[in-house]
Amino acid sequence: MKLHTTLLAGAALCLATAASAASAQENWDLHCAKCHAADGSGSTKTGQKLKLKDYTKAELQAAFTDAEALAAIRDGVKNEAGKMTMNPYAEKLTAEEMQALVPFVRGLKK
Ligand code: HEC
Repeated sequence: MKLHTTLLAGAALCLATAASAASAQENWDLHCAKCHAADGSGSTKTGQKLKLKDYTKAELQAAFTDAEALAAIRDGVKNEAGKMTMNPYAEKLTAEEMQALVPFVRGLKK
C-alpha cells in the first residue's frame, strides 16, 4: 500500500512538471491576450487604454528587435511617466517559455 501511494505521488509530480512547461500559445492565451488580444492586435479594452501596438502589422513588428521583445517579457515595460504598464514575467515563466514567446509574437504578423 505504501509503495502504491509513492507511485501515485510520483505520477502526480510528473504531470505537474509537464503542465508547468506550457506552450507559447498557452502562455499567450493565459498571460498576454488580456492586453494584447488573442490575435496580437491589441484591440482589447485594456489594450486600447494602454495604446498597444498592433502586432499583426509588419511595420510595428519592425519597431522592436527580438532582444527588446524578450527584455519586455522578462523585465516588463514602463511608460514615459515611469509607470509599469506591462508587468515582468521573469518570475511567472521559465527562460525557455519567455524565449518561445518571441517567435510566437513574430508569428502574429499577418
Ligand atoms: C497589462 C497589459 C499587458 C500584458 C498582460 C502584457 N503586455 Fe506586452 N505590452 C504591454 C504594453 C503597455 C506594452 C508597451 C506598448 C507597446 O509596445 O505596444 C507592451 C509591449 C510588449 C512588447 C513590445 C516591446 C517593445 O519593445 O516594443 C512585446 C513583445 C510584448 N509586450 C509581449 C507580451 C507578452 C509575450 C505578454 C505575455 C507574457 C505580454 N506582452 C503581456 C502591455 C501588456
